[in-house]
Amino acid sequence: MKKITIAIDGYSSTGKSTIAKQLAKKLGYIYVDTGAMYRAVALYALENGFISADKEEEKIEALIKMLPYIKLDFRLNEETGVAEMYLDGENVEKEIRTLRISNVVSRVATISEVRQKLVEQQKKMGKDKGVVMDGRDIGTVVFPDAELKLFMTASPETRAHRRYKELIDRGEDVKYKAVLENVQNRDYIDSHREASPLTKTDDAIEFDNSDMGLKEQFERIYNFAMRIINGE
Ligand code: DC
Repeated sequence: MKKITIAIDGYSSTGKSTIAKQLAKKLGYIYVDTGAMYRAVALYALENGFISADKEEEKIEALIKMLPYIKLDFRLNEETGVAEMYLDGENVEKEIRTLRISNVVSRVATISEVRQKLVEQQKKMGKDKGVVMDGRDIGTVVFPDAELKLFMTASPETRAHRRYKELIDRGEDVKYKAVLENVQNRDYIDSHREASPLTKTDDAIEFDNSDMGLKEQFERIYNFAMRIINGE
């Protein structure tokens, strides 16, 4: 069967990773969560004092110098069947999903040298096709020739509710208002930054899933993918 590249972009908490994982599983493709890579660099920057939550510490030049030495890789968790993020050989999957990292990651993602490094690695991961990649610049920068491009949207409130529930389920002590503020703040930074801002390309299919069930969404998108794979 012909292999294609599926690029999924959109604002935070629009369900990109849910649909990406479902598609990858069904098609037997590799799933790459590029947000995890930006989150891992943000964790590295925080832990090593290159940035701080209160924005007082901003040693961006020093962080850029360290970029060649930061080792990022995905390793498969045999139990769950999902790839997990490793930073310098250490599993950081849990830590990178916390609000502490969400609050600084967009700032790190504005640094063009960081983007260059990660985009290069992402292109390598998808060079043989058969990949579903999600992020903010996949259809625009990483794989502008992807056969299927999706642009996911949902209202900020819907997305904040989803993210709030995820964090509470994981045992984090957060307030809904703080999560909503984080969502809105990241939307702004992600779509206004100079380096590869989040934008919908003309050839991307937009999906607003504020009121769409997961099953319906999957069926519709899977059908799109199969039509392209079958050359229809
Ligand atoms: O998808 P996510 O919420 O885990 O992404 C975390 C942050 O990383 C998000 O605020 C924007 C940034 N990001 C990016 O700039 N480009 C990507 N391809 C993926 C994520």
